[in-house]
Amino acid sequence: MNILAFESSCDETSAAVVAREGERFIIKSNIIASQVDTHRLYGGVVPEIASRAHIEAISSITYEAMEAAGVTMAEIDAIAVTSNPGLIGALLVGVNFAKALAFANNKPLVAVDHIKGHIAAAYLSGEEVPRPPFIALTVSGGHTAIYRVPDYCTTVTLGETRDDAIGEAFDKIGRIIGIPYPAGRGFDELSTEGFTEATGDPVGFHKKYKRSEAYRNPEMLLPSPAVKDDSLDFSFSGLKTAAINLIHKYEQRGIELPRALFAARYTYEAVEGVSKKLSMALDRFPGEDLVLSGGVAANSHLRRRLSELAAAKGVRLYMPPVSLCGDNAAMIAAQGYYDFMAGKRADTSLNASAADSID
Ligand code: KG4
Ligand code: ZN
Repeated sequence: MNILAFESSCDETSAAVVAREGERFIIKSNIIASQVDTHRLYGGVVPEIASRAHIEAISSITYEAMEAAGVTMAEIDAIAVTSNPGLIGALLVGVNFAKALAFANNKPLVAVDHIKGHIAAAYLSGEEVPRPPFIALTVSGGHTAIYRVPDYCTTVTLGETRDDAIGEAFDKIGRIIGIPYPAGRGFDELSTEGFTEATGDPVGFHKKYKRSEAYRNPEMLLPSPAVKDDSLDFSFSGLKTAAINLIHKYEQRGIELPRALFAARYTYEAVEGVSKKLSMALDRFPGEDLVLSGGVAANSHLRRRLSELAAAKGVRLYMPPVSLCGDNAAMIAAQGYYDFMAGKRADTSLNASAADSID
């Protein structure tokens, strides 16, 4: 079975053809037209520019995806498209294009939730697909949440951020310390430098780092984003504000901020905070495997820390390859397959929605 899928919820226009063969997914093509170079000029995504760029790209990337996959429209069994959540104008481009294509070619249309799509990116490693029920962490530019996935089409929220998303916070703090948008990857690399400077080891969460002089520096104190209660919620605005104040204090005193050590400390708190709440979630559902997903799932420190956590809890960790952590249509195709098999169908009345509808 071949699924043709579209993703246009933010600043990447993507079309992909994914085949389901036996128990596995095979990515036949996954074309991503990124707009980050355009939005970098403004330090963040400009919604109107994003919508226009999606319109310009979507036809040609569809041809490219079909050609690279080596399939004809007759060989496509269903068309899947991200319908929510995201930037409304951006989503509408993918939704209308997919609707028209499905209608013109008489193909079934499936509307896919972007967050479920991110989780489904972990099904695309080419290896065994995780079996529900499992626990999923989704960390992206717009989301930070822990879900329980009792079946491939259902997502129950266990905890989430009460304010900013982790990726948004990385991007904002990164921008302040001079890392170009989107700052996630640059932040990751700078943190590696900082951990190495503090301990001689690029890995930050080891005891060595907590014993280091850099960690004990009273000027570098930052709060955990793990809300201090029994909930599985996060608050990244507290961490973000404390980080901004810390940077200002250095500025006011005319002292240059030790950028790498600061980035390391910030990453340490962000990763440990997420890991703490995930640990609580795994304890509540013993034996259930863990899935890591979303753009921030590319973070090397988070990947390493969660590998340790899963090993300590005796569960398996499934993560998408780094290349599939960001927005892409292959993950929408994988989720679209399960939604299709569950009988979910959309028609020409399908509308995009900016809001979460995860259930
Ligand atoms: O999932 P995604 O591509 O878009 C949304 O749906 O939001 O996530 C983008 C986010 C950005 O905030 C970006 O800075 C972050 O993922 N990101 C990272 C890394 N790579 C991308 N954050 C931390 N470390 C990384 N290596
Ligand atoms: Zn995303």
